[in-house]
Amino acid sequence: MKELKDRIRKDGKVLNADILKVDSFLNHQIDVELLDHIGMEFKKRFENEKITKVLTIEASGIAIACMTARHFNVPVVFAKKARSGNIGSSVYTSVVHSFTYDRNYDITLSRQYLSSDDKVLIVDDFMANGQAMLGMIDICRQAGAEVGGIGIVIEKGFQDGGDMIRRQGYHVESLAIVDAMDPETGIQFRE
Ligand code: G4P
Repeated sequence: MKELKDRIRKDGKVLNADILKVDSFLNHQIDVELLDHIGMEFKKRFENEKITKVLTIEASGIAIACMTARHFNVPVVFAKKARSGNIGSSVYTSVVHSFTYDRNYDITLSRQYLSSDDKVLIVDDFMANGQAMLGMIDICRQAGAEVGGIGIVIEKGFQDGGDMIRRQGYHVESLAIVDAMDPETGIQFRE
């Protein structure tokens, strides 16, 4: 998506070879018009799927999910990051390992909001190692819901999450794939 790549080139900050800061337009301050165009692009790429819900994980995914869901005219549901314990039978739960923060955390979603009647579009701002995505896929499996597609705003192509999820047979669409980045030489996008 050219508009997104141009914006990343203009306003993204490469902190080091691993971390790209995009918080001036994507995940802290939010450019709503850009997000609306991102939502339209996901709609175009998953047009043929009969999506009934857009699923994401708090916090940064929520704005992207909302701006996507309005183009599908369906609700957003987001997984909450919860501490273990006190988990009743009214929620689906999965464990996510974050390599970035070197810790495990639980995600939960009320059973009320996802069922075997649903065909889900999962969206998120970043895909790095894909562990959060595996957690959301696991929640869909528990609900008996079908994953109709996975939409990622920025995929870090030099980490293995995208390839790992594609190998499992999911239709993944990433609007910008960063193959390499360096504070000196900048960002190299996949064509
Ligand atoms: P994974 O799910 O793909 O395995 O990712 P990982 O645990 O490594 O990433 C942890 C958090 O860091 C995620 O946000 C993810 O969006 C974010 N992240 C990963 N790479 C980058 C990057 O290059 N730049 C920025 N800005 N963020 C990155 P989170 O902890 O779930 O936070 P949030 O959604 O509450 O903001």
